[in-house]
Amino acid sequence: MISLIKTWKKLNEKGIMGINQRNADYILKYNNRRNYPLVDDKILTKQRAIAAGISVPELYGVIRTEHDISEFEKIVKNHDDFVIKPAQGSGGDGIIVIADRYDKDRYKTVSGKLMRHSEIEYQLSNIITGLYSLGGMRDSAIIEYRVKPDPIFKSISYEGVPDIRIIVLLGYPIMAMLRLPTRQSNGKANLHQGAIGVGVDLATGTTLNGSWFNEQIVRHPDTDNMVSNIQLPLWDKFIHLATSCYELVDLGYIGVDLVLDETKGPLILELNARPGLNIQIANDVGLAKRASVVEAHIAKLKQANKTETVEERIAFSIKHFSVLG
Ligand SMILES: Nc1ncnc2c1ncn2[C@@H]1O[C@H](COP(=O)(O)OP(=O)(O)O)[C@@H](O)[C@H]1O
Ligand SMILES: [Mg+2]
Repeated sequence: MISLIKTWKKLNEKGIMGINQRNADYILKYNNRRNYPLVDDKILTKQRAIAAGISVPELYGVIRTEHDISEFEKIVKNHDDFVIKPAQGSGGDGIIVIADRYDKDRYKTVSGKLMRHSEIEYQLSNIITGLYSLGGMRDSAIIEYRVKPDPIFKSISYEGVPDIRIIVLLGYPIMAMLRLPTRQSNGKANLHQGAIGVGVDLATGTTLNGSWFNEQIVRHPDTDNMVSNIQLPLWDKFIHLATSCYELVDLGYIGVDLVLDETKGPLILELNARPGLNIQIANDVGLAKRASVVEAHIAKLKQANKTETVEERIAFSIKHFSVLG
């Protein structure tokens, strides 16, 4: 706890954004409530992304009612691996990553646990009754393609799929982080499930230092390999995808989650209208500081009656937020 306070205190001097400030000065100010459903419901996000030609994991099926649960077998008939998740979930809760079939009745999760058919049905039922949704509202269960991580991540992640989180303010990428699953996080890359956050240089896509449960770390606790100084492949594509999400959902402050599939390349996993603040610890720099640079730039553009294209916005961010020179 002491070290946590110390860490945040140190970051305070670096223009760190606190939770109240995030809510009042960014989320309330820049995110139009009317557009929340587009990101809070992963089915709507998927549909919109597909319509815009943006790649996402393929949707195998949706289960909306108790009655639909009997359709599950049919949906996965041609797939040995898949992912089940609540359409309106967050923080990795309620997600099951199935890696293979084990026998007639059982499936194997990515962390090696066996799950009976009846257990999966029980989980589907939990999802639709709203156990994992915002506010406990009724929800739907998504069954989708299981992303196979690019081999580059083998040495620095433990099972599951690492994801890349990019914060985009008014269309400008301001901070990025690679999240690595650990033994603890059950194949998921969410920090509160126990994944590691690693800062990423916006200009080059090179990893910086890591953080795990608010502590700074340099090696992956399960594989013991260094997490820094790794060049993420196709970084231009990642930045471009994330930046264009501003136009996609018309929300001014978002966290874009992307993954790198070994055959399908960069995909958008989901968008968040209330992205967490730990990305600042992973990058050892404050969001507020970077946000103010973008806000000042936009104020100037406004005066001149100008707006910028995706490419111009990326160029601005690379110029101002690069830490590796
Ligand atoms: N289709 C998928 N294939 C493999 N892993 C996935 C898939 N979907 C989600 N995951 C894992 O679960 C994590 C959380 O998924 P996400 O869709 O971002 O939901 P949440 O809103 O709960 O964060 C991801 O970071 C990833 O590690
Ligand atoms: Mg997520």
